[in-house]
Amino acid sequence: MDNKDIWILAIESSCDETAAAVVKNGRTVLSNVISSQIDLHTLYGGVVPEIASRKHTERINQVIEEALKEADRTLEQMDAIAVTYGPGLVGALLVGVAEAKAISFATGLPLIGVHHIEGHISANYIEQKELEPPFLCLVVSGGHTHLVMVKDYGEYEIIGKTHDDAAGEAYDKVARAIGLGYPGGPKIDRLSKEGNPQAIAFPRAHVEGCPYDFSFSGLKSAVLNYLNQAEMKGEEINRADVAASFQAAVVAVLVEHTLLAASEYNVTKIAMAGGVASNSALRAEMQAACKKAGLTLYCPSPIFCTDNAAMIGAAAYYEYKRGVHHGLDLNAVPNLKLGQR
Ligand code: KG4
Ligand code: ZN
Repeated sequence: MDNKDIWILAIESSCDETAAAVVKNGRTVLSNVISSQIDLHTLYGGVVPEIASRKHTERINQVIEEALKEADRTLEQMDAIAVTYGPGLVGALLVGVAEAKAISFATGLPLIGVHHIEGHISANYIEQKELEPPFLCLVVSGGHTHLVMVKDYGEYEIIGKTHDDAAGEAYDKVARAIGLGYPGGPKIDRLSKEGNPQAIAFPRAHVEGCPYDFSFSGLKSAVLNYLNQAEMKGEEINRADVAASFQAAVVAVLVEHTLLAASEYNVTKIAMAGGVASNSALRAEMQAACKKAGLTLYCPSPIFCTDNAAMIGAAAYYEYKRGVHHGLDLNAVPNLKLGQR
């Protein structure tokens, strides 16, 4: 293999961010353009799939143009075009997939379909130049909560998962219940700083017989019950205390299960990925626990934790090196499994 640089134009449109990025050799980000639709969806209290697809269609060409311009590169100077093809909202995914296929057809560039979660995990390679598999990764996003053993580039084993709500989903639902609105994660993160995490003893759920799995629906119900009871008794609710106590319960199980898996699987490197990995309490507590256990923690900057296309470019580089290319029959797969091709 020669040492020629590999340039990838990557596209991400699986949920409510229209994003494009230019990434060199999987680790150097030349541009990372993200057009967020959050303001639009906030009006409805959550992502409205039809609106998401329509907005992606409106913005995708401009976002790609900006990404190339910012990187000071042309399409002709790219070596491949990468796109998220699942999991996600089918209509939203289709916009990116159709765009990438059109570009591939017009330019002859190889097309690489990327798994969204593989992208989130690969975000860790962008700033941590020395990080290489194997490592254990806690993936915590709006749709997923997984403990993943990254055995090699593109080789994953899911060793733990949620049985019900994803961590981000729990954040979003609790935020709505205490009147914070969408997206809940960053708002609870902020409000928690003013609250007492020990004020209310919310449950730390464990799944019988599955020490690395998660369950957040009981915690969500406990918060809702607490709010209802307070309302029935006519008691004033301290929203900051509720937020901080809920967050403490989520963070405690995420940290505990990750450390347990690290010890059982004998790994020394832990990474975090996904929107919830930008949570300040989770980052601080995971860091403290890793330090105590003599483990090294890797965590992308918040901008690379939430949805972006640079992470898709990082994942695509290792797929490219393994010779993975997709044909023009690539389709969106809303429930794509990690490791599935
Ligand atoms: O990874 P992501 O951007 O999209 C998905 O693939 O789902 O994750 C979005 C999720 C949302 O549920 C959002 O509330 C949550 O990540 N989130 C956070 C924070 N920032 C985003 N949760 C807790 N604390 C944060 N600071
Ligand atoms: Zn995501």
